[in-house]
Amino acid sequence: MCGIVGYIGKREAYPILVKGLHRLEYRGYDSAGCALLSDEGLKVYKAKGKVSDLEGVVAKAASPSVLKSTLGIAHTRWATHGVPSETNAHPHVSESGHITLVHNGIIENYATLREQLKRKGYHFKSETDTEVLVQLIEYTQKQKRCNLCDAVRQALNLVYGAYAIAVIDERHPEELVCARKSSPLAVGVVDDRSEFFLASDASPIAEYTKHIIYLKDEEVALISRGKEIKIYKLTGEETQGEVKEVNLDLSMLDHDGFDHFMLKEIFDQPNVLKDCMSGRIVESPYSSAQTGHDGPTSGLQVVLSAVTQHRRELLRARRIIIVSCGTSWHAGLIGKQYLEHFCRIPVDVAYASEFRYSDPVIEPDDVVMAISQSGETADTLAAIQQAKAHGAMVFGIVNGVGSSIARESHTGVYIHVGPEIGVASTKAFTGQVTVLAMIALALGMAKGTVSQEEYDETIHELLQIPDKIRTVLKQNDKIKKMAERFAEASNCLYLGRGWNFPVALEGALKLKEISYIHAEGYPAAEMKHGPIALVDNQMPVVFIATHHGLYQKIISNMQEVISRGGHIYAVVTEGDEQVKNMVDDIIEVPQTIGWLVPLLSVIPLQLLSYHVAVAKGLNVDQPRNLAKSVTVE
Ligand code: AGP
Repeated sequence: MCGIVGYIGKREAYPILVKGLHRLEYRGYDSAGCALLSDEGLKVYKAKGKVSDLEGVVAKAASPSVLKSTLGIAHTRWATHGVPSETNAHPHVSESGHITLVHNGIIENYATLREQLKRKGYHFKSETDTEVLVQLIEYTQKQKRCNLCDAVRQALNLVYGAYAIAVIDERHPEELVCARKSSPLAVGVVDDRSEFFLASDASPIAEYTKHIIYLKDEEVALISRGKEIKIYKLTGEETQGEVKEVNLDLSMLDHDGFDHFMLKEIFDQPNVLKDCMSGRIVESPYSSAQTGHDGPTSGLQVVLSAVTQHRRELLRARRIIIVSCGTSWHAGLIGKQYLEHFCRIPVDVAYASEFRYSDPVIEPDDVVMAISQSGETADTLAAIQQAKAHGAMVFGIVNGVGSSIARESHTGVYIHVGPEIGVASTKAFTGQVTVLAMIALALGMAKGTVSQEEYDETIHELLQIPDKIRTVLKQNDKIKKMAERFAEASNCLYLGRGWNFPVALEGALKLKEISYIHAEGYPAAEMKHGPIALVDNQMPVVFIATHHGLYQKIISNMQEVISRGGHIYAVVTEGDEQVKNMVDDIIEVPQTIGWLVPLLSVIPLQLLSYHVAVAKGLNVDQPRNLAKSVTVE
C-alpha cells in the first residue's frame, strides 16, 4: 500500500507534498516522511504516526531555506516489513547520503540483496525491504559509472516484486526519477512542462493539472526540471507515455461538514447512485440497432456501452467468474444472483486472492468480472492477469477512473460514485450493486432471458432507490442511540437470507473493521448448525428481515434467538407488525422489490457500524491495521 508524492518545478515543494500526503493517507497512515533538496543539500524528515505528526516535525526542524525547496518526495506508509517507526518510515537514504527514495510495494528478494550488499560494505538502519533498493541503486551507480536514471533501471532489473518509487540524487538537483511495476504511479504534467507532479493516484495532482501519464509496468521515467519527461523500459529502450485527461471532482475529497468521510459517504449515496445510473437508464430514443440489444425502442432502457460493444462475447459466455475482495466480493455475491436470474448464466464468485493461486478451469468463452472500488487491489489485479492468460474476456466494474484494474480490463463499467476515502467501503458497495443490476438487465434483455414486465419493473424500482435511501438515512439519530448499547458488545451475529445474506456478511465486515467488535455474517438458517451455541444475553444478533422471500422462516430463527436470551436488532420493511411485536430495536426500510432490497437494507448496517465506532471513540476513517487500497498481496 503506502502513498507516494513527488514534485519538481518552480514552486515550493513542501506544501504540495503535504497536501498530497493527506489525500493519500487512505493508502496507509502508520508513519510518514519527506525529503527536500535545497541550498542546504538533502534533508529528510520522518515521523511515526500520521501526516500531521510529520508536519509537526518539519515545523520544528526545517529551516526557511529548506522550505523553499522546489524538489521533493514524500511518503505515507502502511508497514509490510518492519514495525511502524521513525526508522522504518520512508524516505530511505543511501550509504553515502546522496540518494534518497520512497517506495510503495514489496521487494520479494530483499533479504538476498541485503546480504549481498552488506558483504560489499553497505549498512542498513531499518528493517524495510525499501532500504535495499536505495543501496542497490547507489551500488549500481558506482559500479557502472552511470547516471541516476540508468542506475535505477539497472538496479530494478535485479529486483523481484512490486514497486512504485521516486528517487532523488542531491548531486543532480534538476532531476527526479520514478518507476513502477504492479504498484500505481501517476505523473502530472503541465502544458509548458515547467513542473511535474508524482503521486500514487490522481487525487494529489488534480488541482494542478488534468494531464496525467500513468506509467506502465517496468517503466522508468526521468523528469528534468522545466524541460521534459523521458520514459524508458527496463531494457533501456525509450518509449512514449500517453497523456490522459483526468477530471476529478475535488469537492468530493472534503468532509463537507460531516464529522468523518465515512458518514459523508453514507449520506452521499442517494446522489451518487443517481450519478451512477445517469445516462445509463434512459428514455430511449434509440432503435434496437443503435442500442445493440433486442429491447424495446421506447420506454426506459439500460444502455451500457461495454455491454453493447461486447455483446457477442457476453452472449456466448457459458459462465461468468466474479473475482474481488472484501466488500467488493460481497457485491459480487449479489451480482451472482442478478446475473443468474436475469441472464440465466451460471456465475462463480471467487476471492481474488484464492483464485490467483488456484488452478482454475477457465474456458476461452468464460467472462471474468473484476469488481474493485480502488481498481488497485493487488489480488484482484493478479486474478485478472491470470484470467487473461487463459484467454478469458475481463470485464471490470471499478470506481477508480484510470486505475490499474480499469486499464487491464478488456472492457467494463465505471461505478461513478466519486472518490471513497473512508476505509470502510459504503457508497462503492451500493454503486457496485447498482451497476451489477444494470449489467444483468442489459444483458438479460439482449439474451431474451428477462421478461419485459420484470425489466420495466426493476428499472422503475432502481430509479426510486436514491429517494428510498434518503428515507432510511432519516433514521440516523435512532440508529445512533441503538449503537450506544451495541458498543458494549464484544461479539455479534448478522443473519439474513437470500438477497439479504450478502448484506449480513457486509454488515459484519463493516462492524469489525471499524469498531473492532468480532462479528460474523451467516445465512440465518445456518445458525442452528453451530453459531446458535454462541447466543446468550450478552450477544447482539442483527437480523435483516425484510418482507421478502423467506421472511416467515427468518421469524422462526428470531424466536430461537429470543428464547436463548439474545438481543435482537432487526432491519424490517416499513409497516412490519410481526417483528415489531417481538423485538424492540427495529429499523425500517421502504418497500422495494426483493432484488433491490440489499441497496436499502445495507444502509442501516453502515450507519450502525459507524455510530458504534464513534461511541467507542475509534478512528472511523482510518481504522487500525487497515488501508484503503490494498496494493500488496
Ligand atoms: C471494505 O470496507 C474494506 N475496507 C475492504 O474489504 C475492501 O472492500 C477490499 O479491500 C477490496 O477493495 P477494492 O474494492 O478497492 O478492490
